[in-house]
Amino acid sequence: MRTLVVFLMLTPIAALSGCADSDDTAPAEPTPRVDYDYEPPSEDVSAIFASHYTYPYQECFDLEADHSIPEESVTLSEAGDEQVCIWQNAQGCAPSGTPFDAYGSCEVAMTTSARFYKFPGYKTETPTDVLDDPEWVKEAEWMRSELRACGCICCHDSTQGYEQGFATAFDVGAQGVWTDTFTDFGLLTASGHIDTTLLGGSFDPATNHGFDRNHTIFPTTDVPRMKAFFEGEIARRGLTEEQIQELIEQVPFRFAGLYTNYTEETQPCGVGEGVSPDGTVHWASASDARYVYVLEEGSANVADPPGLDNPEGMLWRLDVLYDGTPIPSGTLAYGETLEDTLQRRPESGEPPALVEGTTYKLFVLRDFGPMRLANCTFVYGDPIAEE
Ligand code: HEC
Repeated sequence: MRTLVVFLMLTPIAALSGCADSDDTAPAEPTPRVDYDYEPPSEDVSAIFASHYTYPYQECFDLEADHSIPEESVTLSEAGDEQVCIWQNAQGCAPSGTPFDAYGSCEVAMTTSARFYKFPGYKTETPTDVLDDPEWVKEAEWMRSELRACGCICCHDSTQGYEQGFATAFDVGAQGVWTDTFTDFGLLTASGHIDTTLLGGSFDPATNHGFDRNHTIFPTTDVPRMKAFFEGEIARRGLTEEQIQELIEQVPFRFAGLYTNYTEETQPCGVGEGVSPDGTVHWASASDARYVYVLEEGSANVADPPGLDNPEGMLWRLDVLYDGTPIPSGTLAYGETLEDTLQRRPESGEPPALVEGTTYKLFVLRDFGPMRLANCTFVYGDPIAEE
């Protein structure tokens, strides 16, 4: 089996990566609001948006002897060399205070989140007196540095993201009160009022340099501090309890396909879907699949990595590797592996034989994100329903 932890002998230098470099020595002076004309996504960004999901993997980098990475973020290679390891994913984070792109790849991280352009500039104009409040400025800068340590920044910072001038949805690099670039809904996801588990759960903070995404949309090393900052922003906007409730009720609509995938009730397989008596897997769509699961009846739906793609009750899971060709319906049998696929469940050997007369759940995805092709139960031994 391929190992997902790759060890590279590289010395990454953030300053050479092409991203804007911040001056760590000078305290950031608050700047007045600037209404940018944001550029639409470049060809490079569009190409990344058009590519499919890269399954999360950890990558390790050897450290220089005089590195300043905190001890708890350093791991030892098999050869005993000091390394820093990072999840190559939107939710992956570098050690606190280190920009994501010192080790992380935006090209990879950007395949693992919402891939489209939405105006990133100001959505509202709150009083600017906070820019004269040193406490607010300090917390807002801390927030920025937390965000800049993680893969989220690739899409959400026009100054230190993937590309100078590019951001989508909101802009951590905006001048003035940069939090004014959030929508009200966005602020509620950042404060944790709105549960964003369905966006993929969270890496174990112990493997993600202490960054925890279990309580707020942003991974953070300090959950109470992050929540308090965004609570403050909600208060500054003057959102009432009633308005907050109304926004929470918009969750199914706002998260749309992801919400449906995550919560929908599994139905009995319909015409053209299920596993046939000879073991062939079918889904009722002309789209080819990258992820195929057979699970025990009653298992939870399959949702996005890093946390939600391995529900309990998986009997068999086959992934098409990044460079592999997706699989057409009716061409794959239960327990079979093909070229450029990886059987993740069971990790080795054959899956348990399906038992005639037993009900199972079939879950098939074109890709992660809201792209499921089947979520249905079948009785093994019964023929696939025909028109
Ligand atoms: C590939 C680009 C991309 C990456 C990477 C990315 N996002 Fe986003 N994000 C988007 C897009 C596109 C939207 C708009 C979604 C929508 O409106 O449905 C968005 C919306 C948001 C919003 C709502 C903003 C608002 O004010 O309404 C938040 C909050 C957010 N993202 C947080 C994150 C976090 C946290 C991460 C990292 C774990 C992240 N994003 C990574 C593309 C990205």
